[in-house]
Amino acid sequence: MRVLVTAASKHGATAEIADAIANKIRESDITVDRVLPETVLAVDAYDAVIIGSGVYAGHWLAPARSLVDHHAAALAQRPVWLFSSGPIGDPPKPAEELVEIAPMMERIGARGHRIFPGRLDPTTLGLVERAVTAALRAPHGDYRDFTEIRAWAAEIAAALKPAAVGA
Ligand SMILES: Cc1cc2nc3c(=O)[nH]c(=O)nc-3n(C[C@H](O)[C@H](O)[C@H](O)COP(=O)(O)O)c2cc1C
Repeated sequence: MRVLVTAASKHGATAEIADAIANKIRESDITVDRVLPETVLAVDAYDAVIIGSGVYAGHWLAPARSLVDHHAAALAQRPVWLFSSGPIGDPPKPAEELVEIAPMMERIGARGHRIFPGRLDPTTLGLVERAVTAALRAPHGDYRDFTEIRAWAAEIAAALKPAAVGA
């Protein structure tokens, strides 16, 4: 069994979530390729695919959206899970589902979508991003919950390989 875990990340928070998901799934003796979405040429070699993106102004980043667009037909033929890394603060905001996710899920028959709280580190932001987040009074900090993230990855591993999982 071979699984692709790929995520678009501007400032690294989503990439680290994808790493944690990949590592958790590997614990079930599943082979995981953890690569950037822009380097994916085909998904035919994979038994399942997990695609994530950081959220910016309510949207997924372009490399993750393009991956789904370019490989929609092949993705529709295998189990796919999606995740987004975005909301920040306690409680995390914004809390709404992203508008583009439902049609994307329907198109590729995705099994699920999880929104994980993200990280906002002002030292990594450009001038415009800093101005936007300041205007929105967005709280700085790392709101990612790696216990929750690993639990979701374990659910996926269990769905793919029920006998092998010790979550
Ligand atoms: C300019 C800017 C706009 C953002 N817009 C949103 C948004 O619309 N919705 C959301 O949930 N998070 C938003 N975020 C929060 C980021 O998506 C979050 O911090 C995420 O974890 C960043 O992922 P990355 O480090 O992988 O790029 C925004 C962050 C910045 C800097």
